[in-house]
Amino acid sequence: MSRVALVTGGSRGIGASISLALKAAGYKVAANYAGNDEAAAKFTAETGIPTYKWSVADYDACVAGIARVEADLGPVEVLVNNAGITRDSMFHKMTREQWQEVMETNLNGLFNMTHPLWTGMRDRKFGRVINISSINGQKGQAGQANYSAAKAGDLGFTKALAQEGARAGITVNAICPGYIGTEMVMAVPEKVRDSIIAQIPVGRLGQPEEIARCVVFLAADDAGFITGSTLTANGGQFFV
Ligand code: CAA
Repeated sequence: MSRVALVTGGSRGIGASISLALKAAGYKVAANYAGNDEAAAKFTAETGIPTYKWSVADYDACVAGIARVEADLGPVEVLVNNAGITRDSMFHKMTREQWQEVMETNLNGLFNMTHPLWTGMRDRKFGRVINISSINGQKGQAGQANYSAAKAGDLGFTKALAQEGARAGITVNAICPGYIGTEMVMAVPEKVRDSIIAQIPVGRLGQPEEIARCVVFLAADDAGFITGSTLTANGGQFFV
């Protein structure tokens, strides 16, 4: 029987590619999204992947949303914490709102989504939690004190939880994408973006599919010995 995978932020950008790749690999996929109804409806119409609306920043909404997914598809065995936002600003101009919004989604969202699923994964003795962090959680990025802090936090969460899940057959891993050609990166001012691309040894932005293949790799049943790891896919821009 095919396993159920839930992808947060799964109807756009990297998340959409992850949802599609997991479906192609035989999973029953649910894609969560927070705001863009039009994009979600289009995604479902084009792919047949059901979309579910709630904010990962809201714990109660996560509990209710997960219950809907599980009622429709069955217990979630693969969780991909992909949803993320940017509120870029140099620190001296950064507002508390910009700090907090990024923390709520990019860091607290991992607690809000993983916690309600954790007991079920432990009971069933199987689980895959895959957290989409970022190159900027590894190296830091000027203009992203909030985002870099949250994404670095995601790596600490991954490593701690991997230790707790290991005996229960649950792996917890992180992927650190570099700069991928999504709306998020295209929103960076062109001049800044060009200077970033110049720092990528492969000479181009990554593609969402190049992150999705990392997820499929880590989600597999026979990836059970890989846990607590950070898989980087950044075109050679930064080595840990
Ligand atoms: N290091 C140090 N100083 C820098 C800098 C850097 N990399 N970049 C800019 N500065 C300085 C500038 O020189 C300038 O200094 P002065 O005022 O003394 O001249 C000052 O910071 C302000 O720079 P800007 O004119 O660029 O300021 P701004 O307010 O117009 O824009 C910004 C600031 C919004 C942060 C903009 O620089 C920006 O968008 N930067 C890109 C940040 C980035 O890489 N975001 C990644 C988004 S994609 C993503 O997050 C996905 C992922 O995981 C990779």
